[in-house]
Amino acid sequence: CGITGCVGTGEAVSCLLDGLSNLEYRGYDSAGLAVLDGDGLSVCKREGEVSELEAAVDGEFAGGSLGVGHTRWSTHGPPTDANAHPHTGCDGRVAVVHNGIIDNHERLRERLQRRGHEFRSDTDTEVVPHLVEEFLAGGADAGTAFRRAVDELSGSYAIVMVVDGVERLFATRSGSPLVLGVDDDACYLASDVPAFLEHTDRVVYLEDGDVLSVEAGEYTITDGDGYHVDRPVRTVDWTPEDAQKEGYDHYMLKEIHEQPMALRRALRGRIDAGIEVPAWLLDHPDGVPVRFVACGTSYHAALYAVELLQKRGISAQASLASEFATSPPPLVDGSVVVGVTQSGETADTLGALRRASEAGARTLAVTNVVGSTAARECDDAIFIRAGPEIGVAATKTFSSQVVTLALLAERLADADTGILQALSTVPDALQYVLDHTTAPQVARTYADASAYFFVGRGVAHSVSLEGALKLKEISYEHAEGFPAGELKHGPLALVTPETPVFAIETGDHSDRMRGTVEEVQARGAPVVAVTHPESAVAAAAETVLPIPETHPELAGLLANAQLQLLSYHTARLLDRPVDKPRNLAKSVTVE
Ligand code: G6P
Repeated sequence: CGITGCVGTGEAVSCLLDGLSNLEYRGYDSAGLAVLDGDGLSVCKREGEVSELEAAVDGEFAGGSLGVGHTRWSTHGPPTDANAHPHTGCDGRVAVVHNGIIDNHERLRERLQRRGHEFRSDTDTEVVPHLVEEFLAGGADAGTAFRRAVDELSGSYAIVMVVDGVERLFATRSGSPLVLGVDDDACYLASDVPAFLEHTDRVVYLEDGDVLSVEAGEYTITDGDGYHVDRPVRTVDWTPEDAQKEGYDHYMLKEIHEQPMALRRALRGRIDAGIEVPAWLLDHPDGVPVRFVACGTSYHAALYAVELLQKRGISAQASLASEFATSPPPLVDGSVVVGVTQSGETADTLGALRRASEAGARTLAVTNVVGSTAARECDDAIFIRAGPEIGVAATKTFSSQVVTLALLAERLADADTGILQALSTVPDALQYVLDHTTAPQVARTYADASAYFFVGRGVAHSVSLEGALKLKEISYEHAEGFPAGELKHGPLALVTPETPVFAIETGDHSDRMRGTVEEVQARGAPVVAVTHPESAVAAAAETVLPIPETHPELAGLLANAQLQLLSYHTARLLDRPVDKPRNLAKSVTVE
């Protein structure tokens, strides 16, 4: 989600709207403003794009030089006017915008409802203004009331608050980004620098636990206990376009690096309590397969999930959505079909889901977009919480899909397989991969290859397909993924000293993979092991893309991050337009 805030500018409404438009490249589903104007605190919010809000604010506000704005990417509740931010309490004196997830919102909401608070939205955010109201009613000043309310929250958040009659903004962050822009007679708050870059290039990056009180051209930062803290003011030398990429050269690279954060979000609240799964899926008849339909990268995530389910004794199958729609498999009573689709708008996947539904199957969407067609049309939806993805080649959404589907597989399983504990360590392990990758060197070594082959077994088979797809999409080089055991039944004819073979080994097929490595080395092909550096496969290979030790079912996810980086660096060396490869679209809305 995107936050903006300003104090001290002549025209708060246009300043906030410009800030929201500058953040809108991320593609949001609702937006809103709260401004302290001549009439007190006024709020206006709308489902849809910032342009809808712009049309709606006309005449709504009487001037004002202080306010907050928000663009929402739904995680709780559909994108509606009521669920859009800012959220207010009962008496409309407090307005709040928030990014992140408040884990204990249900408990807080129940407590507040018992004390007579009425809620108007489905969001977790709405507890915040109600909490602040409680403390204000108890006699606290606005700053103290804010601090006390924040004390009650657990989860990840960046929050900015405005209170009627108080010429300040109050803000805090914990696990979600928030930056302060400083000018001589104005201050700005935002989740991302481009929101205010046209006004000032002087930026304070806030840290978790910081609590801010911001006036026109002045601010104080304290810790949770109220002690003053100093944060340096930095000058950014980004163009607005650079700033949207937060200094990364491409969205794809930025999104690859966002994966640890995205996975923390996907896992939040779903490890201890388990992921919420519709009852009809939990109770679906034994022996009736869970059928996945998907396209492209999402299909590879579905194949990954099939492996996880089958290992748990649950029958599962994945179909390419276009194939499913044209030649659907026979569906029996109690059939369940899961559409895996980042955008929720891919026509082939929607077509397959509609066919399944017409044939009497129950349908579930696993998607990144809360208000998407797939989420609306399916019987139920589970969200992967990856945040907006701009690069055409899917990266972080694949990882978030796999993690979400792993949670789903474990929920459907009878026994604890240890994957939940391992999942909680995966964001850090992925960070380690990103920090220690050798992908740039490996890309340089093989930049002249005539083709690239990827092989793996089990979950690593789906990763081999995804590794090859990523390389094809953005480098335009010939690449293929194969199940390792299938190599000898045909593809081996293609293997030469000019075709590096990437052997993805997750820790449970080591001996067999050694055999594959020898097979291709005997034909002169160099082998890059994508595995733990101390494994036998790594020892036999020419080069290693290392991954830390983890649960074998999750090692594929770490290996995939190495292959994303390999594709990225290969495409860079070949001077390809990484974020917008030729002939491809982010979302294909025709069958
Ligand atoms: C397009 C994109 C792919 C994506 C596929 C499925 O072909 O170029 O990157 O994997 O659609 O998209 P979805 O939104 O359904 O996951």
